[in-house]
Amino acid sequence: MAKSHGGRAMFGSKFGVIAAAVGSAVGLGNIWRFPYEAGTHGGGAFLLCYIIAILVLGIPTICAEYALGRAGRANIFGTYRKFSNSNRWNWAGCLGILASIMILSFYSVVAGWTLEYFFRSISNSFAGMTAEDYHSEFVSFSTSNWRPLLCTLLFLGINYAVMRRGVTAGIERISKLLMPILFVILIVFCINSLMMDKAQEGLAFLFRPDFTQITPSVMLSALGQAFFSLSIGLGCMMIYGSYIKADANLTKMATVTVALDTLVAILAGVVIFPAVFTFGFSPAAGPALVFEVLPAIFNQLPGGVIWSALFFLLLFVASLTSTISMSEDFIAYCTEERGMSRRSATNLNLGIAVVLGSLCTISFGCLNDFKIFGLTIFELFDYVASNILLPIGGIAVTIFAGWIVKKSVMKQQLGVSGIVFKPLMICLRYIAPISILLVFLRSIGII
Ligand code: PHE
Repeated sequence: MAKSHGGRAMFGSKFGVIAAAVGSAVGLGNIWRFPYEAGTHGGGAFLLCYIIAILVLGIPTICAEYALGRAGRANIFGTYRKFSNSNRWNWAGCLGILASIMILSFYSVVAGWTLEYFFRSISNSFAGMTAEDYHSEFVSFSTSNWRPLLCTLLFLGINYAVMRRGVTAGIERISKLLMPILFVILIVFCINSLMMDKAQEGLAFLFRPDFTQITPSVMLSALGQAFFSLSIGLGCMMIYGSYIKADANLTKMATVTVALDTLVAILAGVVIFPAVFTFGFSPAAGPALVFEVLPAIFNQLPGGVIWSALFFLLLFVASLTSTISMSEDFIAYCTEERGMSRRSATNLNLGIAVVLGSLCTISFGCLNDFKIFGLTIFELFDYVASNILLPIGGIAVTIFAGWIVKKSVMKQQLGVSGIVFKPLMICLRYIAPISILLVFLRSIGII
């Protein structure tokens, strides 16, 4: 990217921007988190809530983030300050930065698992195992003391190395190359899963909603998943918006980002659920789900070792393009607001992530009994960031874009005609903030 605009980096090409934004959005959220959230929250019921959340709340919010980011050309704090002419919105910036750190910490644990599974794949260590073996292998690995910790630290080290090279040289190049490959591979796996014995059952679980399962907590989880998956509510897309050139059409970009992200999540579901039923796994296995089911799928494919190695490698890269955006959120704040050098900001980001990421990692092992509100540290970070901080961040950004920023600025940024602009603004002003608030309050039992 690296073209300067008033001293700020810019993405070089339109494809580069889309690749980076999609790179941030597509990651473990789609391939690891979506299937297990869907699996524990009733399959089709969850998918339905998720799609509604994406359409009604996701698209307007991502449009708002891109528009605010490009108009403000600053980090989350700077953007809120610029358009409110005050520090009154600093709290929203704080929530965003806090969320980016919390997500980076627990996300790196799972990204570390992808590294471990990549190494295991190339050493062909899954050969000849049964469904139970995959389960016990995963449990014994994730609860052990050192290996998962080393994997988390290795992942954070790689993330650090990319961040040190600056926003774009790293981000744009990696995303452009690898995102399309991930997509093709997922389609191949989908076809394979569709030919499995219990494909019908898996598809029915994912696509046929049981309406009795739609509860406030399922709705909140779907909302949290939508925000998590689209990387919105914490300033990441604002930052990427600030690196987009003036002539790019933001509404189109937002729609493409949302469409590709949702497609990848659904494809991941189509890969996983037929296999879950065919091999006799439980759809409600939680965070372990894909790490148990995927090796089983690879094992029955011809050339399984290669597929498996390739897939975990791509999953690792997809995680990296996501953590890069979380780190960038934090680093842009430190350099632009706190006057730190990029180098010190990157070091600080790494330091915090190492401490918190290690705690999240060992919360599967020796800290497994240490619970806060009944949740392990890993679960707590995930719950607080996805189901509390991101929705509140979403309320903030939609209210801000709908009520505080001048309409003319939004209109100019979004570059759409009245028929699209009006409903979009209605969503930003009323529908999005009110419905996020209602879901949120209802699920925590306040209303
Ligand atoms: N959207 C990413 C994913 O689906 C995760 C993410 C969350 C990235 C928040 C940046 C910010 O994996």
